[in-house]
Amino acid sequence: MINATMQDAVNAQINLEQSSAQLYLAMSGTMDGKNFHGFAHWLRVQAEEETKHAMRLVDHLLERGGRLELGTIEKPPSEFGSVTQLFEKVLQHEQLVTASIGRLFELARSQKDHASEVALQWFVTEQVEEEATASQIVAQVRAVGEQGGGIWYLDGKLGKRGS
Ligand code: FEO
Repeated sequence: MINATMQDAVNAQINLEQSSAQLYLAMSGTMDGKNFHGFAHWLRVQAEEETKHAMRLVDHLLERGGRLELGTIEKPPSEFGSVTQLFEKVLQHEQLVTASIGRLFELARSQKDHASEVALQWFVTEQVEEEATASQIVAQVRAVGEQGGGIWYLDGKLGKRGS
């Protein structure tokens, strides 16, 4: 059974993952409003990914006999600036999530919660990918610039994201 300390920390991470979903959905909406349907699609898929992350943690918590306590999700901003600024915010947010996963992993270790440690390994690996992808998009957006055909090409490319 999961202990109370880990239960609270996993519940907090569930909240962060769901907040991430809310944030990326808000970003998707703004991109759609600017006719960047490809970026909007990428961000919407990302929002769905974050919900899956939250559910993965919910399953772990419940399987371990923990109690699910959902928290408040803050209202996300409704404007994120330029395309570059938006994806810089995605990268910053992923870095924040990585730090949070790292702290949770350390906590599992200090609590000798081996089952949580193993479950969290998936998230440690996932965050490497999440940050790498966000970094790559930031680099690509910076390279093509906000004006001209390059940004539309990139929009089309990200619009092909499957899952
Ligand atoms: Fe669930 Fe993008 O971190």
